[in-house]
Amino acid sequence: MRDIIVKDLSFAYEKDKWILRDISMTVEAGEFVCILGQSGCGKSTLLRLLAGLEHPGSGTILLDGSPIKGASLDRGVVFQDYGLFPWMTAGENIMLALEQRFPREDRGRLKAIALENIRRVGLDEPVYSKLPKELSGGMKQRCAIARAFSINPSVLLMDEPFGALDAVTRAHLQDLVSALWARTDPKKTVFFVTHDVDEALLLASRIFVLGQSPSHIIYECSIPEDHRPTRKTQFEDPEILKMRNTLIREINKDVSARIED
Ligand SMILES: Nc1ncnc2c1ncn2[C@@H]1O[C@H](COP(=O)(O)OP(=O)(O)O)[C@@H](O)[C@H]1O
Ligand SMILES: [Mg+2]
Repeated sequence: MRDIIVKDLSFAYEKDKWILRDISMTVEAGEFVCILGQSGCGKSTLLRLLAGLEHPGSGTILLDGSPIKGASLDRGVVFQDYGLFPWMTAGENIMLALEQRFPREDRGRLKAIALENIRRVGLDEPVYSKLPKELSGGMKQRCAIARAFSINPSVLLMDEPFGALDAVTRAHLQDLVSALWARTDPKKTVFFVTHDVDEALLLASRIFVLGQSPSHIIYECSIPEDHRPTRKTQFEDPEILKMRNTLIREINKDVSARIED
């Protein structure tokens, strides 16, 4: 089991300018967690700490009982800007991650894994040989998701991955990630950062709201497994609408309180 325990986590990029303050959260293996908050509140910073790209100013982050020491291939990361090297084909980008993750594995076997994941995210095999500039934003993000899943990490960190996509592509990719998460056994623990309440409600099994910087968790809720909204029920189900209103109120309450200060 790969539980994540964040305890009294504080972080500042510059001395005494706290971005995150006293964040505590326990996430069980296999949860789909959405981190919601206004722009600039520290969501990406929290994700970078979980990725091991930054280190806590104080407090701890334990993954499966051990402190996170640095970046590791058992945590896959998907960013908004796709993170594909432009001079490599989509397939070579995926192979690079695979070769780092499985250095002793036969190349042919790794290529088969890359192609399998390209298909899994709804792309055709010829995409393997295409450069990122030859692909649409949605296809690039599908490749980034294929890369993240191909190294089979137990934890997946996604930072506003669909923020730059049009509404229809975004909806397709939300469904894709949701289906990949639900179908993978054992389930991956997902941290998904977004500022979109509806996206969070559609994807998450649990939602944490971060307040304005120096931010801490101002609200938390769980979405029961048997009551997950769908695109159809999302704006009809009274319980979901109530949750949606509460989330919007919580985010804005914190903003208005700061404006009135
Ligand atoms: N590398 C950095 N150095 C200094 N300040 C930073 C750095 N990265 C982000 N910040 C600041 O930290 C705060 C939180 O940023 P970020 O985590 O990117 O927020 P979010 O992802 O919620 O929009 C912002 O005020 C931002 O300007
Ligand atoms: Mg961000």
